[in-house]
Amino acid sequence: MKIAVLISGTGSNLKALLEAQKQKEFESEIVLIVSNRKAKGLEYGKEYGIPAVIIKEDEELLRTLGEYGVDFIVLAGYLKTISSKILESYKDRIINIHPSLLPKYGGKGFYGIRVHEAVFKNKDETSGVTVHYVNEEVDGGEIILQETLNISHCKNPEEIAECVLKLEHSTLKRAIKKIEEEK
Ligand code: GRF
Repeated sequence: MKIAVLISGTGSNLKALLEAQKQKEFESEIVLIVSNRKAKGLEYGKEYGIPAVIIKEDEELLRTLGEYGVDFIVLAGYLKTISSKILESYKDRIINIHPSLLPKYGGKGFYGIRVHEAVFKNKDETSGVTVHYVNEEVDGGEIILQETLNISHCKNPEEIAECVLKLEHSTLKRAIKKIEEEK
């Protein structure tokens, strides 16, 4: 698959994917990096020799995806809602990584540290990561892969976030491999 990775921030998931691609942990090729705003993660484009652009408008995003022959989209901390036009054009070919065991702590309002604050408040002993297909419902698409981890040792939401983010980095590449094998 020719993958575009969409980010909005630090891009640690992107970096993990770029490393995994370099180690040939999956066959797909990341051909484009897009952020909807200035983002530290765009710098990985230079480091790995992959075009990395800021695109704010959905029309331009759709056009650029076409220009690069993208056939699969990975949302990795992309905070903008995907337009219905792009959802249609890439039906069942967009995945997202979410830092909880969906459907728990998913949907509108559950992003970034808020997810881990809710987990901490509920005194959950475990949390985890979900990679799912993207549809019109926020965090609502079919689940591809879920991995759990014990967080009973975490003393605050920030510690949970740190442990979960590390798990994301390994789960996302395994999800791509799983999709490749199921194709
Ligand atoms: C992470 O918090 C992750 O849980 C979610 O969005 C953030 C992305 O972080 N998917 P990064 O930009 O990949 O470091």
